[in-house]
Amino acid sequence: MGALKNKHLIGLEHTPARDIQKLIDTGFTFREVLDRPIKKVPSLTGKNIVNLFFENSTRTRISFELAEKRLSADVTNFSASASSVSKGEGLKDTVQNIHAMKMDCAVMRHPVPGTCLQLSKFVDAVVINAGDGTHEHPTQALLDMMSIKEKFGKLKGLKIAIVGDILHSRVALSNIYGLQKMGAKVTLCGPPHLIPRGIQELGVSVNTDIDEVIEWADALNVLRIQRERMGVGIIPSVREYRDFFGITQERLDNHKKEIVIMHPGPMNRGVEIDSSVADGDQAIILDQVLNGVAIRMSILYLLLGPDEGEES
Ligand code: CP
Repeated sequence: MGALKNKHLIGLEHTPARDIQKLIDTGFTFREVLDRPIKKVPSLTGKNIVNLFFENSTRTRISFELAEKRLSADVTNFSASASSVSKGEGLKDTVQNIHAMKMDCAVMRHPVPGTCLQLSKFVDAVVINAGDGTHEHPTQALLDMMSIKEKFGKLKGLKIAIVGDILHSRVALSNIYGLQKMGAKVTLCGPPHLIPRGIQELGVSVNTDIDEVIEWADALNVLRIQRERMGVGIIPSVREYRDFFGITQERLDNHKKEIVIMHPGPMNRGVEIDSSVADGDQAIILDQVLNGVAIRMSILYLLLGPDEGEES
């Protein structure tokens, strides 16, 4: 029996609140390790982890690799563009080859929703979802929740707004599940056609007036506007988006209130967020990055480390 209910971390939809709490608490323990002169512990000595990235990543990929190394695991990196996937090999064959190499854990990012769940059916290894298409990005939501808790000392009762293209965002969906399980209130804000119809059934509210949302919220989680969606009828123009939904310095100054600004990255400075806001005192964006390493250490440790009661 592992430390968590589920063997894999596929999403927060089916992760109990108790386990989210445990992952965040353990994340804070590993934050202390990251502040030490020697930032390495032997917890995962002898464990083999493969990072399978079928889609580009900077933060998630680097922080998983760092977390794995800080826990003394043996790490193998796999990138689709540099593998036989480019010669037409399918996911199942790729994965079975990796399985034959006796990996203990696969961390996977893939552009197709549901691929991590599929992978978990093909292999004995623990599977961690590092972002699967527009489905979920659970490790991002966990680091977001850890960063909010670090700032406010709690999650319960806080008012968190998620701003941007909700329809195509795995970060939004994982945050919606996670934050509400931890007792936070969630409002979604963005262009109406980029908010999924019926999303209120998940318990969130929707408000397309960004100024009302800023007045309401304790923290804004600002999503990246995907430039590939510009000019193809989904987002008319950068200028229009910025005017209606951009977190500009002028807009924040008009509200004269304390509000925490978050962004999962990568950022489009000058589009969804002004540079001065991203680099300003209200932003915790680089704390999110640091907490990303700690929370990924926590996830790996709780899924792969010694069971409770066992000697480490
Ligand atoms: N936040 C996030 O997932 O960033 P990357 O795409 O750089 O990993």
